[in-house]
Amino acid sequence: MTGPALDIRDLTVTYGDVVALDGCTLSVAPGRVTGLIGMNGSGKSTLFKAVMGAVRVDSGTVTVAGGSPAAARAAATVGYVPQSEDIDLDFPVSVRDVVGMGRYGHLGFTRRARAEDRVAVDEALARVELTELAERQIGQLSGGQRKRAFVARAIAQDAALLLLDEPFAGVDKRSEATIVRLLRSLADDGRAVLVSTHDLHALPDLADDAALLLHRILFHGSVGDALQPENLVRAFGVDVTGGAP
Ligand SMILES: Nc1ncnc2c1ncn2[C@@H]1O[C@H](COP(=O)(O)OP(=O)(O)OP(=O)(O)O)[C@@H](O)[C@H]1O
Ligand SMILES: [Mg+2]
Repeated sequence: MTGPALDIRDLTVTYGDVVALDGCTLSVAPGRVTGLIGMNGSGKSTLFKAVMGAVRVDSGTVTVAGGSPAAARAAATVGYVPQSEDIDLDFPVSVRDVVGMGRYGHLGFTRRARAEDRVAVDEALARVELTELAERQIGQLSGGQRKRAFVARAIAQDAALLLLDEPFAGVDKRSEATIVRLLRSLADDGRAVLVSTHDLHALPDLADDAALLLHRILFHGSVGDALQPENLVRAFGVDVTGGAP
């Protein structure tokens, strides 16, 4: 891929009187993990939804791999792990079925899973360490295991751009380490990864770059620079470093 995997220009999104994004500009390169950092209500989830074409955009542009969000969705170019899953947990689908949904964009004319789809699903399950639980009903996983299942779905999709909205919320240290390793290897494969998190301490291990969001991007650069107190104060309004590290 040449050019940015994701290019957001001067994006404004409002919900009635609430201005969630206000002239937000961000460019995300392939081969990198970019951390998206911002306080509650700063517009992180709205930014992801705008990239997925799931909210109405007031002004500005979103370009995914050179095309529109709708084209990217149709071509399965972009994979998305939402902050909370709007799924019916009683729905009778297995973990394997959920991961297999990531392959819908790849299914042929007959929409029947082919050998390569099954291989992609098996590999994704193995990478999030859910092989053993593959036949379980999705509602019978713990919250953290379920999060990993949705990460596996995005991996199986083989998307060039991966969006993960707080994948570490409610996830233990071991699952977090698994996901961090995975995102790193996906970036090493040339994918672009944009991941929002509140865990500033995990950021140096997680990301190559960080973007600080407060309705617009205040800073985008190295993780070390992003974590400087003067930048964090601008993004969070208070010194959140607590003097460490
Ligand atoms: N559907 C909606 N209707 C009205 N206002 C909304 C809606 N969704 C989000 N908002 C508002 O838009 C702003 C940005 O919300 P958003 O969910 O994008 O923030 P966030 O950075 O993801 O926050 P968090 O860290 O809590 O997940 C907030 O003020 C929020 O209350
Ligand atoms: Mg959010």
